[in-house]
Amino acid sequence: MSAAQARSGNGPGRVHELAVAGLRAGVAGLEVLTGVDVVVRSGEVHAVMGPNGSGKSTLAHVLMGKPGYQVVGGTVTLDGRDLLPLAPFERSRLGLFLAPQDPIEVPGVGLHQAMTEALVGRGVNPDDTTGSLTARSVAEARRVGFETRLLDRPLNVDLSGGERKRSETLQMALLRPSIAILDELDSGIDIDGLRDVARRVRDGVAEWGLGVLAITHYRRLLSVLHPDVVHVLVRGRIVASGGPELAEELERSGYAAFEKAARERDEGGAGKTDS
Ligand SMILES: Nc1ncnc2c1ncn2[C@@H]1O[C@H](COP(=O)(O)OP(=O)(O)OP(=O)(O)O)[C@@H](O)[C@H]1O
Ligand SMILES: [Mg+2]
Repeated sequence: MSAAQARSGNGPGRVHELAVAGLRAGVAGLEVLTGVDVVVRSGEVHAVMGPNGSGKSTLAHVLMGKPGYQVVGGTVTLDGRDLLPLAPFERSRLGLFLAPQDPIEVPGVGLHQAMTEALVGRGVNPDDTTGSLTARSVAEARRVGFETRLLDRPLNVDLSGGERKRSETLQMALLRPSIAILDELDSGIDIDGLRDVARRVRDGVAEWGLGVLAITHYRRLLSVLHPDVVHVLVRGRIVASGGPELAEELERSGYAAFEKAARERDEGGAGKTDS
């Protein structure tokens, strides 16, 4: 495989697949994910919506392999390869990317340095035929409205909430993962920024066949991302999936009906009615 192919997610035409089946996982003795099934392929955009505390970020962390979470059942594979025994950096090298809900500060590690190491770790020359990493960083920064003077800062250190979201999107664009998990990329970012980062993600789908799992509370992000599928995650599992109209329905009706049905199922009283 050439460096350019590796950087572009193994080249156009190759279909990647993140497959999650029956995933059950917890943290601090609490079972948060109670059986998640979802498959995301190259070029597909999946949205995940759900009430606060339903397990969306837990799903993102477990897929990326954040320490401290216990997987108690199910499987997670990327292109057929079992991800669960792998460290986060190994999952990243295989083509998975996570933009966390609350990106952490990494003092002492610059963005340029982090991207250089990440690309070298993939066997890719950071300065490739499309330009130096610096030149590409500047170009990508402009696309997401990230001030270029911030490129020299340590990762996320002293960045505003919206600047972090722009920085995460810029990192995604430089790394060109095959599948990106975006946990509330729209939180804390201003209206122009939201449009810019969402467009960058959408362009990634067209440019290199990026597959997306986008966690969000709001339709505004989805109006740019145009998801193929919208999933509703309640009480640690996907209880409904549909087209973009499902997001509109949620905006009108909220999650109450989904939560009630899921609670009744968990309590073994699916047939019961309120008295
Ligand atoms: N480290 C932890 N220790 C204890 N409980 C945790 C921990 N991490 C998550 N939880 C709990 O797990 C549940 C799911 O949290 P999670 O962050 O996945 O929710 P979410 O769906 O992302 O919510 P939000 O929409 O508010 O971001 C919550 O009840 C949360 O308090
Ligand atoms: Mg969350």
